[in-house]
Amino acid sequence: MTDGQIIQLKNISQNFEIDSKKQIVLKDISFEIKKGEFVCIVGPSGCGKSTLLRIVAKLINPTAGAVRVNTDKLAMVFQNFALFPWLTVEENIAFGLNMSGAKESEAKKIVREQITAMGLSGVEKKHPKELSGGMKQRVGIARALAINPEILLLDEPFSALDIFTAKKLRAELLSIWKERNLTVLMVSHLVEEAVELADRVIIMSANPGKVKEAKNVGLSRPRSVRSEQFYHLVDEIEKLIHS
Ligand SMILES: Nc1ncnc2c1ncn2[C@@H]1O[C@H](COP(=O)(O)OP(=O)(O)O)[C@@H](O)[C@H]1O
Ligand SMILES: [Mg+2]
Repeated sequence: MTDGQIIQLKNISQNFEIDSKKQIVLKDISFEIKKGEFVCIVGPSGCGKSTLLRIVAKLINPTAGAVRVNTDKLAMVFQNFALFPWLTVEENIAFGLNMSGAKESEAKKIVREQITAMGLSGVEKKHPKELSGGMKQRVGIARALAINPEILLLDEPFSALDIFTAKKLRAELLSIWKERNLTVLMVSHLVEEAVELADRVIIMSANPGKVKEAKNVGLSRPRSVRSEQFYHLVDEIEKLIHS
C-alpha cells in the first residue's frame, strides 16, 4: 500500500451459494482510498454494495482477492441502526468501548461526550424503541464514533429517515468527518447524496457487481446542491448507473 492510502482492495470477488447454485455477487473489484478521503459507493440495488462494505470491515472473507486496511480502528453505521433493543441509549453507545476493554471511568466520559455531541442529552436512559428514526441513527453514529475510529463505514445510513432529518444528519456527518479527520466510505442509493458529500463517487454495476467508473466530484465545499455543476454531475452519474 502506498503512502497515504488507508484502504486497498485488489481483485475482490465474492460468490454466494444460493439454493446450491453459485451466484457471483462481486467480480474483480479493485480500488484504493486515501486517508481522510470521503468516498461514496452508488449502484443499483443488489449489486453487492453492502457485501463490499462488509468485506472492508472484515466481517466477510472474500472468495478471492486481497483487502488491506491500514488500521483496526474502524466502525460501521447501518441503515436499520442495528441498535441493541435491550440496552439503553448510553449502554448502546458504550457497547464497543466495553468490548474493547476500556476503563469504566474512561468509557463513561466518552459516552457523555458523544451524548452531548450527537444531541442525545435527555434520552440517555431510554431504549431504542422509544426513539424516532433520526434519534436512533444519532445513537448509531455515536456508538461508532465512541471507539474513536479512523475509518467510518456507513451503509445507506440516512435512507430510513425522512428527508429533513436526513439532510440535517448529512450536514452533521460532514462536520464530524472534517473535525475528526476521518476516512469515510459510505454506500448510498441517492446520487444527489453522494455528490453532496463525497470527494469521489464509485459507481457500480450489477450482475455481477463491478466497478463501472470512479468520479472525482471536484466541487468546492460547502457545496450548493442547486448549482449547475451539481446537477450536471448528478445527471452524468445517473446516466452511468442506468446505461
Ligand atoms: N450472506 C449471504 N448469502 C447469500 N447471498 C447473499 C448474502 N449476502 C448478500 N447476498 C446476495 O448478494 C447480492 C448482493 O447483496 P447486497 O450486498 O446486499 O447488495 P446491495 O447492498 O447493493 O443492495 C444479493 O443478491 C443478495 O441476495
Ligand atoms: Mg445494501
